Amino acid sequence: MNRDGFGSKLGVIAAAAGSAVGLGNIYRFPCELGNNGGGAFLLVYLLIVLCLGVPVMLSELIIGRRTQKNPIGAFRTLRPKSAWPAIGYMGVFGAFIIMAFYCTIAGWTLEYVVKAVGNQFQGKDLATIEKDFGDFHNMGWRNVLWESIFIFITAFVVFKGVANGIEKYSKVLMPLLLVILIVLGVRSMTLPGAKEGLRFLFHPDFSKITGSVLISALGQVFFSLSMGMGVLITYGSYIKKDDNLASTALSVTLSDTLVAVLAGIVIFPAAFSFGVNPKEGMGLVFCTLPMIFNQMAGGYFFCVIFFVLLAVAALTSTISLLEVIVAYFVEELHMSRRWATVIAAAGCAVLGIFASLSLKDGSSFTIAGMSLFNSLDFLSAKILLPIVAFFIVLFVGWILGKSAFFEEITNGGGLKMSIKGIIFFIIRYLAPLAIAVIFVTGFL
Ligand code: PHE
Repeated sequence: MNRDGFGSKLGVIAAAAGSAVGLGNIYRFPCELGNNGGGAFLLVYLLIVLCLGVPVMLSELIIGRRTQKNPIGAFRTLRPKSAWPAIGYMGVFGAFIIMAFYCTIAGWTLEYVVKAVGNQFQGKDLATIEKDFGDFHNMGWRNVLWESIFIFITAFVVFKGVANGIEKYSKVLMPLLLVILIVLGVRSMTLPGAKEGLRFLFHPDFSKITGSVLISALGQVFFSLSMGMGVLITYGSYIKKDDNLASTALSVTLSDTLVAVLAGIVIFPAAFSFGVNPKEGMGLVFCTLPMIFNQMAGGYFFCVIFFVLLAVAALTSTISLLEVIVAYFVEELHMSRRWATVIAAAGCAVLGIFASLSLKDGSSFTIAGMSLFNSLDFLSAKILLPIVAFFIVLFVGWILGKSAFFEEITNGGGLKMSIKGIIFFIIRYLAPLAIAVIFVTGFL
């Protein structure tokens, strides 16, 4: 079969970074950081990125490029008649549930684009902005509508195929998002009382590092880098044989982490300045940001652009999630791309509707006392992603083995890679051990 591929080296990085950079960085990262001890969380987060980011990402890209297959097909090709394809199935399942709750938040970004265009934040104080946000949640149908529109747009891009769909959009818009974040960061840091926020973000209080902080940080790293569910196996399968996988993994990891830290620099100084509780969760981003825009020259203009870019960043992530499911349907179940896209999108939309509605006050869509929305988030980031990532590194380190690893990372000997031995050591020993230890301490 003639597989779609990425047109250029920059295209690969842009698409993988497009998948990585999204609501995970700008929305989920501040929420988790605020709820898990501030600076202590940041420190653990950065350490995990440093030790596990590149090795885990490389492992996924290698499996994908070596087999040119979707996550399930990839394991089937490398180890036929074994239990390994189960890892691929877990990845595809992970994509499905992340998609369902992710599109809820992505839908909010569209609501906020409309609010921004209509200049609906101007002159409002924090209490009013918070109340509007709460009221919006309680209008269940409106959330569902935006979520459905978002899934529809995602399906449209995915249907058009990889090269002309994903690549084109990511290349221009992601750098623009970075520029806007820098501008916002400067404004936020110069607000009165901003220092407290910077302290909260950058001053680690070691006594706050608990098992639950560790597992939250681990889950956030995987979530933010789109690791542990097959996105990077799928994208790796579209990468050409002469691309440098290690440098791709490094660029994606660095840019994603930069965006997350920048988002922290935008949110926390402003949150402290306006008196938003750092444990606020969802409102932390959706209420603090409009307050910043209200306090800056050209606020209207920045507000519109920011929410448009946030929606686009979310879109390049949902595209990658849907692509995982569609690639599986097309290649393993032999569906046409059209039907695969329609069925996958419809499935995500149905679960997504319940996730959206579960956020209404007094909703009965709960699992063990947690809203369906939060349960899906918990199940994916803190359980599925670490488990799948654990088995992926185990697979590359122990089953695929050293010579295949070296062959892929050096493109068959063509590239010089002096640290390949160290990276392999991390993949074989350190990464599985670290993931297992954090996972176990997190749930003790
Ligand atoms: N990494 C994306 C984000 O940060 C979310 C995502 C998770 C996308 C897992 C694909 C796979 O927004």
